Amino acid sequence: MHDNKKWSGRFSEPVSELVKKYTGSIDFDKKLAKVDIEGSLAHAQMLQESGVISEEDLKSIQEGLNEVLEMINSEDMPWSLDLEDVHMNVEKVLTDKIGDAGKRLHTGRSRNDQVATDIRLWLRGEIDIISECVRNLQRSLLTLAEKNINTVMPGFTHLQVAQPVSFAHHLLAYVEMLARDDERLQDCRKRVNSMPLGAAALAGTTFPIDRKRTAELLGFERICENSLDAVSDRDFTIEFSSVASLIMIHLSRLSEELILWMSPRFAFIDIADRFCTGSSIMPQKKNPDVPELVRGKTGRVVGNLMALVVLMKAQPLAYNKDNQEDKEPLFDSVDTLIDTLMIYADMILGITPKPENMRSAVLQGYATATDLADYLVKKGVPFRDSHEIVARAVKRAEEECDLSDLSLSVLQDFSPLIEEDVYQILTPEGSMSQRNHIGGTAPKQVSAQIRKWQQKLGL
Ligand code: ARG
Repeated sequence: MHDNKKWSGRFSEPVSELVKKYTGSIDFDKKLAKVDIEGSLAHAQMLQESGVISEEDLKSIQEGLNEVLEMINSEDMPWSLDLEDVHMNVEKVLTDKIGDAGKRLHTGRSRNDQVATDIRLWLRGEIDIISECVRNLQRSLLTLAEKNINTVMPGFTHLQVAQPVSFAHHLLAYVEMLARDDERLQDCRKRVNSMPLGAAALAGTTFPIDRKRTAELLGFERICENSLDAVSDRDFTIEFSSVASLIMIHLSRLSEELILWMSPRFAFIDIADRFCTGSSIMPQKKNPDVPELVRGKTGRVVGNLMALVVLMKAQPLAYNKDNQEDKEPLFDSVDTLIDTLMIYADMILGITPKPENMRSAVLQGYATATDLADYLVKKGVPFRDSHEIVARAVKRAEEECDLSDLSLSVLQDFSPLIEEDVYQILTPEGSMSQRNHIGGTAPKQVSAQIRKWQQKLGL
């Protein structure tokens, strides 16, 4: 095929070295070698069952491909840039081993449907790994949450202290985000799990192939029902990359919070030393490198999504070599995502909360002002008026203390309706426990949520 370093008898000269490097993909697409062989084994079996190749040829192909697989596993495969990509590398080594039967393997198929099939098979497996990593991170968050149902921290809006919330409630917000991410992964998997093989170069093949049989052998739920679409669209890589981007975006939000919480200004948590580094010049520093890198790597995964979106834009039907550029961004996003999720699951378990600091931040922020306003509303004051009354009380407290430090007689200056029982709702704990409805931060609700997720995640 490529021994003479030119494509075929049709070409009068080989490509230049630079062009060979520019057009070759073996350096990165060898990652697909195992699924490429899986696809070839199924294709060959279908060809034999359909009477296109002999039983003898099938046997040689099966034995030969298994030997190639062993060579790959033991890193003995002579990957060659002269053979451009993974498909031709595998085929060449196979043919050197088994002769003509190896040359018959490519009957009724093209690299165009072959590569589209390989990426789908590979991505399907990676989605399953990623999904398990997402669930594992949810489990870590639940483990930390379970210990912090009654840990009160300031909830923020505009990064200003807003109302007291349970630290567990805050962590459960991320469990929810990740649950939607996992749903999106499962949904995307359905469209990934559709088989292009049989589309051949673009129009189908003249051989009597049985695509349903190949799909069955490869565990595809569906077959792509238009050959032009099958070989050309990479929308499933875009869809996956957008799901990957959302996961990273969610983790970048949590990372930003961990970084803030670990800063001595907040001092809400400590992160285990194995996730942090020191400074080469400032001995006092302990830097949250891992969350910072997660925040940074989010840019890379979103960048990969952009690369794929623009790659697909305005491509005419059917296959174009542009599509060879789908692999590196996709591979990079998968690798980044799996590493990030695995590190994160461990890092969450290495978090030590500092409840006293969280609580004193609540007290410094008039976090129970809304509770006082609600208290007055329950005594008949219209909400807008109670809002104004409390604003004045906050102004007064601002001079020295928290609302709960104001004496009853001072509070009664703002409204005579205020009584001794007001102190129950002015504490952070009182404030939390009153928000006792589905989705609220009351410890009772938070415990129920934790139990629900524990059951769902098999904890
Ligand atoms: N390496 C190619 C890719 O990744 C395989 C398909 C090549 N097909 C072709 N007609 N040149 O897209």
